[in-house]
Amino acid sequence: MKLLNLNSLILAISFLTVSSAQNNLYATPFITSSTSKFGRRIEGTAVNVNGDIFATNFDANLFEIGSITPSQSVYHTSSSQKSFYNGIRFIPLTKTQVNQGIKGVALLTNVNEDQITKIVVQKDGYVKQSAICKDKTLSLPNDLAYTYKTNRIYISGQNITANTVKGDGGLWVCDGKSGQLIEHLPFGRTNGIEVSPDESNLYISETLNKDSKVVSNKIWKFDIDKRTGKVSNQVLFVDFEKLDGTQAIDIDGMRTDIDGNLYVTRHDGSHVTVLCPLGKILSKINLNSIQKPTNLDFGGKDGKTLFIVGACKDNGTKGCVETIQNDIPGRAFTALKSLNGKFN
Ligand SMILES: *[C@@H]1O[C@H](CO)[C@@H](O)[C@H](O)[C@H]1NC(C)=O
Ligand SMILES: *[C@@H]1O[C@H](CO)[C@@H](O)[C@H](O)[C@H]1NC(C)=O
Repeated sequence: MKLLNLNSLILAISFLTVSSAQNNLYATPFITSSTSKFGRRIEGTAVNVNGDIFATNFDANLFEIGSITPSQSVYHTSSSQKSFYNGIRFIPLTKTQVNQGIKGVALLTNVNEDQITKIVVQKDGYVKQSAICKDKTLSLPNDLAYTYKTNRIYISGQNITANTVKGDGGLWVCDGKSGQLIEHLPFGRTNGIEVSPDESNLYISETLNKDSKVVSNKIWKFDIDKRTGKVSNQVLFVDFEKLDGTQAIDIDGMRTDIDGNLYVTRHDGSHVTVLCPLGKILSKINLNSIQKPTNLDFGGKDGKTLFIVGACKDNGTKGCVETIQNDIPGRAFTALKSLNGKFN
C-alpha cells in the first residue's frame, strides 16, 4: 500500500512537470451558441485599425462577413452569392482614402471564385468590390497573409483529397498594387499562412492525407525578398510529429505577435499552439466551447486580446468565439496603427 502511494506520487509529480513544461493556458468563451449570429463555417478572424474583430459566415452565409466586436453585425455581403469567403485581412488606408473618408479596405480569400476579393467600404457605407490575383494556377484559395510595408499578398490553398499529392495546395504570391500573381509554388494542402513582424520571413503550413487520414502537419519557413516579394531558402520550421506527436491534427489559421511568436490554430485539437521564433513550444492555449478552431487574431484597444473562432461544440450549426489576454500585441493591429494613411 505504501509503495503504491509512492508510485502514484511519483506519477503525479512527473505529470505536473510535463504539463507545466507545456505551459497550459485556457481561453474563455466570448460568443456562445446561444448568442452567436455566425454559422459553423466561421473563419478568417481579422483585426482592423481600431482593434475591432471580424470573421466570415455571418448569418451562416459563406458570402457574408461580420464583426465580432464592438458588437455582432454584418460588415459586407458579396454581390455574388457564389462567393465563399474564408480568409480576411484589413490593409492600411492610403492618404487619399483617409481624406475621402473611406471606412476600411479588406482582402478576402474567395474559395469558390478562385480569387482574392478586395472590398473598399466608402464613407456612405457603400462597398466597392473587385476581383484580384486571378490566375489559371490559383485554385481553392484558403487563407492569406499580407506584407503591410510592401503591399503583397501571400495565399494558401487546399484541395482535400484522400491521398495528398504535390499541387493539391500551394503558395501564391500576388502584388497588391497591380493585382497580378508574381509567384506560384506547388505544395501538399496549405492552410495557415503568416509573415514575421519584420516582414522578412513567411510561414506556411503543409498537411498530407494518406488513405483519407491526416498523417503529417508541418510549417515551412521562407525568406522574403522585399524588392520582388518572391520567397527563397525553404526550411522546415516545425514538424508536429517530432515536436509533440500531434501530426494528425490539422494546422489552421496562424498569426504572429510583434515579438515574432507564432500562434497556430489546431483544427479538431481544441487548442492553439504558441511557438517562439526558434520553433519551440511556448504554451498551449486550451479551448472550452470549440473543438475545431479555424482561425485567430489579436484585437481590442491595445491589440493584446486573442480572439479564436470555430464551430460551437454544443451546437454544430453555430460559430463560437473565445478570447485570452496576451502580454504582447499582435502584428496586424500594430502594423495597421503605424501605417494607416502613411502611403500615397
Ligand atoms: C481536387 O482533386 C480531385 C482529385 O484529384 C480532382 O478530381 C478535382 O478536380 C480537384 N478539384 C479542384 C478544384 O482542383
Ligand atoms: C442550435 O441552434 C439552432 C439555431 O438557433 C437551433 O434551431 C437548434 O435547436 C440548436 N441545437 C441545439 C442542439 O441546441
